[in-house]
Amino acid sequence: MKNALITGANKGIGLETARQLGRLGYKVYIGSRDISRGEAAEKELTSEGIQAEFVHLDMSAPSTFPTVVNHIEALDGHLDVLVNNAGVLLDYGVRPSDLSPSALRSTFDVNFFAQVELTLLLLPLIRKSPAGRIVNVSSVLGSSTLQSDPSTKFGDWGSLAYGSSKAALNSFTAILSKDLAGTAIKVNSAHPGWVKTEMGGPGAPLTLEKGVKTSVWLATLPDDGPTGGFFHMQDRLAW
Ligand SMILES: NC(=O)c1ccc[n+]([C@@H]2O[C@H](COP(=O)([O-])OP(=O)(O)OC[C@H]3O[C@@H](n4cnc5c(N)ncnc54)[C@H](OP(=O)(O)O)[C@@H]3O)[C@@H](O)[C@H]2O)c1
Repeated sequence: MKNALITGANKGIGLETARQLGRLGYKVYIGSRDISRGEAAEKELTSEGIQAEFVHLDMSAPSTFPTVVNHIEALDGHLDVLVNNAGVLLDYGVRPSDLSPSALRSTFDVNFFAQVELTLLLLPLIRKSPAGRIVNVSSVLGSSTLQSDPSTKFGDWGSLAYGSSKAALNSFTAILSKDLAGTAIKVNSAHPGWVKTEMGGPGAPLTLEKGVKTSVWLATLPDDGPTGGFFHMQDRLAW
C-alpha cells in the first residue's frame, strides 16, 4: 500500500488532501501540531474507511520531526508522498514597512525552514519509494514574476513575509528537483487557488474539493510527469 504524509492536515486544504489521497488507496499520515485536532481528523477519516493515522508534527518545533520520521520508517520502511502543506499567513493586510521582524521570522520558520528540514530528514525514506513525490504547497503570492509585475495587484500590499517565504519555498522546489534529477523522485510546487478555508476566508471562490486538485495531481504524478515546476491545476505558473 502506498503511503503519504501531509503536514498541517488537521483542517483545510491539508485535511482534504489527506481525504482525497486516502480515497485513492493511500495510507495517510496526518501531521498536526495540536494533538486533539489531529486525533479528531484521524477519527473523521477513519470513519470514512480511510487508513489514516495522526502524527504529532509542530512545524515551529523541529524537535518533533525525528520521532515521526522514525515512526514511519519502523512501520513502512519508506515514504511515497510528502505534501508540505502546513503554512501561516501572519501579515495579511500589513504594509511591508510595518512588518515586525518576529512576524517575518515566524512565517519563515513554518513556511520555509521547517519544510526544508523535514523534507531533508525524510529524503532517505522517500528515496526508498519506487516513485517518490514531494509537493510543496506554495502560493501565487510566491511568484516573483507576478510580484514584480506593476500590473499585478495582490490585496493592498502583497504580504511581504508570506510572499517571500513562498518564493523561498519555490526556490527549494527548483533546486531540490535538480539535486534529485535521475532519481524516481519528483518535486513540484503547487498553488491551490484561492480556497475557502480559515486562511482563505469565506469569500474565496474555490471549494476545498477543487482547492486540493493541484496537490493531489502532483502527489500522484505518473513516471513521465513533470518535476521542478510550479503549477496551478495542471497549468505551469511563472516563478
Ligand atoms: N486557502 C487559500 O486560499 C490558499 C491559497 C494559496 C496557498 N495556500 C496554502 O495552502 C496551505 C494550506 O492552507 P489552508 O488554506 O488550508 O490554511 P488553514 O485552513 O489555515 O490551515 C493551515 C494548516 O497549517 C497548520 N499549521 C500552521 N502552523 C503550523 C505549525 N507551526 N505546525 C504545524 N501545523 C501548522 C494549521 O494547523 P492549526 O490548526 O494547528 O493552526 C492547519 O492545519 C498553506 O500552505 C497555504 O499557504 C492557501
